[in-house]
Amino acid sequence: MKGKEKKRGPIIAIDGPSGVGKTTISKLVAQSLGFRYIETGAMYRAFAVAANDAGVNVDDEDELEEFSKGIEVTFDNNYEKIFINNKDYSGRIRDASSGELASRASSKKAVRDFLVRLQRELGHEGCVVMEGRDIGTVVFPDADVKIFLDAKSEVRAGRRHAQLSASPGFAENGGATVDAEKVAGDIEERDRRDSTRRHSPLKKADDAVYVDTSEAGVRDIEKRVLGIIKERTGIGDNNR
Ligand code: DC
Repeated sequence: MKGKEKKRGPIIAIDGPSGVGKTTISKLVAQSLGFRYIETGAMYRAFAVAANDAGVNVDDEDELEEFSKGIEVTFDNNYEKIFINNKDYSGRIRDASSGELASRASSKKAVRDFLVRLQRELGHEGCVVMEGRDIGTVVFPDADVKIFLDAKSEVRAGRRHAQLSASPGFAENGGATVDAEKVAGDIEERDRRDSTRRHSPLKKADDAVYVDTSEAGVRDIEKRVLGIIKERTGIGDNNR
């Protein structure tokens, strides 16, 4: 029977570089639609931090692959907490150093293969908003709606700086690590690495809708994204 394979709820893919407001917007949109929200960046971060803890060199593909064979990645009911071998990593993955480790480990094919498989399992029933760098291009190329969020680099650096300053790790480090200029440099380097890597580089899918978040407020962007989803799937509005 034709179309039989598409017996699932909608998949909303939200991609873009750091500091564009992906997480905030994706959460709000998922909440509004009553969909599950899945943040794939947290998986790369937790994987890289756990590997680093285990003494794995996060630039070594073979070591990373071996590490992936011995771990199980799980979540709490709302996908807000992430566990690796039952250990909760959620509180340790928001600082700049975990972002750096994640960016390095995520350039390795073995890591991507492992986490993309998990992400497909998590999303295959649909009714999900999945956020990352390659959701619309690689994880779910047949997603019902694809959004690519972007913003001017100075705006992104400012947002990331505010985010890091508010994170628990900032106080513990005496604030010394969150220098605005350094954040801007780090974000530039990370985006360069994420966009130029050989495997699944960050790029807009041809059929994704480009949304610039530089000037707009969170609620405006949320409205815009919900409008795009409504237009493409007919879903939305009823519970707002
Ligand atoms: O979105 P984030 O800053 O939490 O992501 C951390 C790193 O993980 C980012 O530098 C690139 C990588 N990442 C990825 O390669 N693919 C994804 N789908 C999500 C994140």
